[in-house]
Amino acid sequence: MARRPHLLLSLLTASALIAGACSRGDDASEGAQTPQEPTPTTVASDATTTSTTEATTTTLQRLAPGPGGDEVGDPLFAGLGNSGYDALSYDITLNLTGEELRATTVVVLEPTVPLNEFNLDLVGMEVDRVTVNSQAANFTRTGRELVITPAANIPLGTRATVTVEYRGTPTTIEDPSGPIDLGWHTESWGTFVASEPLGGATWFPSNDHPSDKATFRITVTVPAGQVAAGPGVLIDRQDTSEASTFVWQMSDPMATYLASVVTGDFAISTSSGPDAVTIRNVLPTDDAARLLPALSSTNEMLEEFSRIFGPYPFESYGVVAIPQPLTFALENQTLSLFDTQFLTLRRRTVENVLAHELAHQWFGNHVSPAEWDEIWLNEGFASWADHYWTELDGGTTFEERAERARPLNLRPPTEVTPATMFDATVYLRGALTLEALRRTIGDGNFFQLLQAWSDTYGGSSATTEDLLDLIREREGAEAAAVVRAWAFDDIMPELPPRLG
Ligand code: TRP
Ligand code: ZN
Repeated sequence: MARRPHLLLSLLTASALIAGACSRGDDASEGAQTPQEPTPTTVASDATTTSTTEATTTTLQRLAPGPGGDEVGDPLFAGLGNSGYDALSYDITLNLTGEELRATTVVVLEPTVPLNEFNLDLVGMEVDRVTVNSQAANFTRTGRELVITPAANIPLGTRATVTVEYRGTPTTIEDPSGPIDLGWHTESWGTFVASEPLGGATWFPSNDHPSDKATFRITVTVPAGQVAAGPGVLIDRQDTSEASTFVWQMSDPMATYLASVVTGDFAISTSSGPDAVTIRNVLPTDDAARLLPALSSTNEMLEEFSRIFGPYPFESYGVVAIPQPLTFALENQTLSLFDTQFLTLRRRTVENVLAHELAHQWFGNHVSPAEWDEIWLNEGFASWADHYWTELDGGTTFEERAERARPLNLRPPTEVTPATMFDATVYLRGALTLEALRRTIGDGNFFQLLQAWSDTYGGSSATTEDLLDLIREREGAEAAAVVRAWAFDDIMPELPPRLG
């Protein structure tokens, strides 16, 4: 989808478990003071492998068209994503019934320059065949790039359908920011996906950057007895004595890092939420009855967040809990990822993180960061929401959090590196930035501003400057200046007093 050219574990005191990895709990001072130039991590490796295709050797006309670029130019991650086109949809078909994963991904894209060559991001896997508009295409592999040379140029004003057939056992990639290896995980009990920020490319070829969102259909075939869950709505299920096929449709734009699949011995329990949102929670079959009550606040949270953020942006929501410790939770679109053990902790701890991941559906998922250094637009907003929920519930207040933050000398939340993008600065000072705005303009205006943010940039991606512009337009220059100081100044400002 077109990018617009131009916001855990809330420092959980109680939950070292989840906070540990990402937000590093309240011990967040570590690393929070080192002023660093954002050094881009290079994600393209120089390892080059070349696959030959049995492609027809149609002669390529190298006339006016040129190649697409091998990155979008992300300030934190050199090599991530691609330029030269806009991905509109991904249709991913996965077969998990054999020794290795067999897969086909169909990408529909629209060129933004005339193309005689373009890239998709793909890490690992063996590519067997690529076609563009049904004609075999040549391709090579270089690091995380799948470089495709179509038999015919792709002119502006057309759409191209790119089909990639591939197989193998996905390899996870190291996470520069911490919690766990990224991408598609194969475990003894099944499989799951945790990609943020770089792991999407481990299981499907894509323009792997949040500035290019697209719709998805994900079809997964698993051995009989297993279940496959994915984003959006289950539109079809076929069972034979050997295998079951699940088709999940995500009709709203989704960033590649939020696409997920989980397979194994799970029970899907479906219920209806407010405003016709379908709730489906995915829990290990043996444990479902015990764990389901931990999710009972979902409807109430959806009602409260729809009231203050605007309508829930997707058709469905739910949680998947996997039978393996994770030390984090992750806001995969419409299917937040948790581990079963976390759901057995005390109610307020669990609800705090449930609120955090639910809030990400608006902030991060519906409105995505235009670049990875805008990550506070995800984590600051979701942390504000979980602090808000916890305060409503009689837990830690914003004042208490501001007091705890003060001695940590937190950097401005807009100043991040791949290593610090999920630290306390981003979560806690990010949340307090919004709380400062709330206290400056009052609850009513603040909630309307959040709704305008979700309305204006929903389905797309945005920047801190977009947020400041919106605040200036609606609330004036002074309110924008408050947020600017919180977002950019070395010294963290004082939290204004709560308005009447
Ligand atoms: N976005 C997650 C949260 O705050 C934290 C996170 C960042 C994460 N990168 C991750 C979780 C990688 C799992 C894997 O809720
Ligand atoms: Zn988060």
